[in-house]
Amino acid sequence: MKLVEFVWLPINIKLLLLLLTIFLFHTFQYYQYRVYKFGGITMHRTTKNTITGQEITKPNPVNEEVLFNGGVMITETDKNSIITYANRKFREMTGYTKEELVGSPHNINRHPDMPKAAFKEMWEIIRSGEYWEGYVKNMRSDGKYYWVIVSIKAKFNENNKITGYIAGRKVPNREELAKIEAQYKAMKAAE
Ligand SMILES: Cc1cc2nc3c(=O)[nH]c(=O)nc-3n(C[C@H](O)[C@H](O)[C@H](O)COP(=O)(O)O)c2cc1C
Repeated sequence: MKLVEFVWLPINIKLLLLLLTIFLFHTFQYYQYRVYKFGGITMHRTTKNTITGQEITKPNPVNEEVLFNGGVMITETDKNSIITYANRKFREMTGYTKEELVGSPHNINRHPDMPKAAFKEMWEIIRSGEYWEGYVKNMRSDGKYYWVIVSIKAKFNENNKITGYIAGRKVPNREELAKIEAQYKAMKAAE
């Protein structure tokens, strides 16, 4: 539409077009705010707590490491990786409260640098009932990150059916970590 044509439009149409532009602009902004565009993949920025209904907005990643210096860091989930338990050390390291964690999907602390394939393999192994251990870069509620070796095993009921999972965390070996980090970067670039 030429500017001259726009000028001659009735005032109510002009207002309508203005409102439509504002609406589209805000929708776009909201969409941008809710998702990360990271290395070509879209990662949801919000997670919804299934118990409280609270929507938790993930922070922007901050390139600063917080060292995990040991101690017991445990989480438990149901079959669909909804957190059912998070111990004090885990809450301290991630910066989320018990109310925010319990009921939220475990990807609440997923870091966008983690390659998809690492989690795909993890799920294949733990769903089959096997024990999995691997290096994971996690994002805290302040956007900073920490590296841990996560070990996950399934919990079974009396009929040998998987009811959920339990994860423990160990301090990573820094030499090994350097290799893993390079590997993850290459995997991420190939996504
Ligand atoms: C017991 C258990 C512990 C988990 N711990 C973590 C974790 O510390 N960090 C993480 O990013 N994902 C963890 N996951 C995997 C997440 O559920 C999820 O698959 C992963 O973050 C990838 O998220 P996405 O599927 O949204 O890409 C855990 C899963 C289970 C079952």
